[in-house]
Amino acid sequence: MKALIIGFGFIGRDLVKAFYEKKDAIRKIDRDFKVIGVSHSKGYLHNDEGLDLQRLQHIKNLEDYGSSYHAGESSLGLIEKSEADLMVEATPTRIKDGEPGLTFIRKALNSGISVVTSNKGPLVVAFHELTRLAEKNGCELLYEGTVAGAIPIFSLVRECLQGDRVLRISGILNGTTNYILSRMYFDEMSFELALKEAQERGISERDSSYDVDGIDAACKVVILANALMNRNVKFEDVEITGIRGITQEALSLAKKSNFAIKLIGTIDSTLEVAPKLVPINHPLCVHGTLNAVHLETDLAKEITLVGYGAGRETVSAVLNDVLTVLRKKKKAA
Ligand SMILES: NC(=O)c1ccc[n+]([C@@H]2O[C@H](COP(=O)([O-])OP(=O)(O)OC[C@H]3O[C@@H](n4cnc5c(N)ncnc54)[C@H](OP(=O)(O)O)[C@@H]3O)[C@@H](O)[C@H]2O)c1
Repeated sequence: MKALIIGFGFIGRDLVKAFYEKKDAIRKIDRDFKVIGVSHSKGYLHNDEGLDLQRLQHIKNLEDYGSSYHAGESSLGLIEKSEADLMVEATPTRIKDGEPGLTFIRKALNSGISVVTSNKGPLVVAFHELTRLAEKNGCELLYEGTVAGAIPIFSLVRECLQGDRVLRISGILNGTTNYILSRMYFDEMSFELALKEAQERGISERDSSYDVDGIDAACKVVILANALMNRNVKFEDVEITGIRGITQEALSLAKKSNFAIKLIGTIDSTLEVAPKLVPINHPLCVHGTLNAVHLETDLAKEITLVGYGAGRETVSAVLNDVLTVLRKKKKAA
């Protein structure tokens, strides 16, 4: 199987490392697996014989790979000419229009290329269009890394809860806000100081509004609702309140009654992201950068998953999606 990686940033680079480290496990499923193209915003590498993953994992810029680099060329050209079987899409999230990832994913699926993505934007904008497109073209579209990082929420429901109906989902879906709220709760830090610390430690972006105003969590609510509860909802359907208004007073009052305050995304009859009081002994009440997802289903009743929602651990979700595609394609061959 021939694979492309679109986007050579944090995720793309980590995936190359994982492909190299796990090459024996990958070969057990598909001994001909190779990465034939990798792109970024300024051009791409393409070699139909397969790129050297050992070399690729040590370079910072694609230009440094040497031969096979096409400067100034768009990823669309790579997708068009590559005859790949699989594309991993890891470009930046833009929730306004899902671009540039949405165009890349449409192009791949229309060309019969299965897609694994960690990018929320295209799914928030066009979830049902893309899943229909994948089905029509006999391709896989997997997106485990888009929600709650390494927590295998979609795989769990797809594989292990096939007979269950998901009735309600609630969760801590943003690690940055959970970190800030945890520092405020346990260390009595102000919101401003906790945010500054999160930025200094690389937990929050310099533009923190995406996290602290609940936008990132709302994107995840939309994807969960559409993917796991068969809804047809948009970003605008989510009622959003961020954490800027949470005061020290509110937190210490909560603490006195054995509650914490957490930014919770909820999919019920309505969609909401808002700070909520959570009993300190509830399984959702996790701290630091951890995420947690609480599922309520008709048969299993309640299941809570806890894990890392972003960072290095996300590669687990992306790699496992790739292995799922390889297995399915091998079975179908
Ligand atoms: N980082 C995480 O922990 C994490 C966790 C879960 C999900 N995600 C999601 O995964 C995606 C990738 O995240 P990341 O952290 O790897 O982002 P990143 O470090 O910003 O890397 C993005 C990559 O996409 C490339 N790119 C931008 N525009 C492009 C275009 N038009 N054509 C081709 N490539 C383009 C960039 O190229 P240049 O280098 O040339 O700018 C860069 O290589 C994002 O959607 C993010 O929200 C990230």
